[in-house]
Amino acid sequence: MDGNGRWAKQKGLIRAVGHENGTKSVRQTVEAAAELGIENLTLYAFSTENWNRPKLEVDTLMRLLVSSLKKEIKTLHDNNIKLKAIGNLETLPKKVLKELREVIESTKNNNRTTLTLALSYGSRAEILNVVKEISVKVKNNIISAENIDESIINEHLYTRNLPDVDLLIRTSGEQRISNFLLWQIAYAELFFTKVLWPDFTKQHFCDAIIEYQNRERRFGKTSEQIS
Ligand code: IPE
Ligand code: MG
Repeated sequence: MDGNGRWAKQKGLIRAVGHENGTKSVRQTVEAAAELGIENLTLYAFSTENWNRPKLEVDTLMRLLVSSLKKEIKTLHDNNIKLKAIGNLETLPKKVLKELREVIESTKNNNRTTLTLALSYGSRAEILNVVKEISVKVKNNIISAENIDESIINEHLYTRNLPDVDLLIRTSGEQRISNFLLWQIAYAELFFTKVLWPDFTKQHFCDAIIEYQNRERRFGKTSEQIS
């Protein structure tokens, strides 16, 4: 979700207003995903690198997160959405963590769509963590080095219960991955749009899905093998 700051700047407003308006796009996208029956939607809400922004902006984002969680719990239940979170969650302010845990607990039996928030998330940190956890298990003879395979790596990622990414959408015209789900996007279709995140609507989301549906996913095979 990118472009909140530029959206505000274009309108002569402070960045916080861009972030606030970005929450409307979150609601639209989440509702659209549930309506379309998409089983998993993961939103990159705050990266490990975002901690390096000015403190005032980080505080604003954390405050927005708490208020959105409080406000949107009804939206989640109305749409039968389960909330999850991935990332180095211990680094989040206590207030955020408390609210997050409450909403996760409250929505755990919902089963239409799983909404995963990537918070204080960085893919390299995630992979590093996997390497450490597996190393300890090898050392303690729980796993043998020869048996390490992709499924064992998958089981140690924060996303252990999620499938690989099918479609990755990035807004605001940037054509980068920025440390997001690097392992999990190996065969994802990438969709880049110039639309700034606060302008992103249900229609834009559907446009991305339609484009995705028209891509041929070959996973290394030939077109003939696929059809
Ligand atoms: C995305 O918008 C929001 C977060 C990273 C939390 P930006 O804040 O990155 O907006 P730009 O890139 O400055 O326009
Ligand atoms: Mg940005």
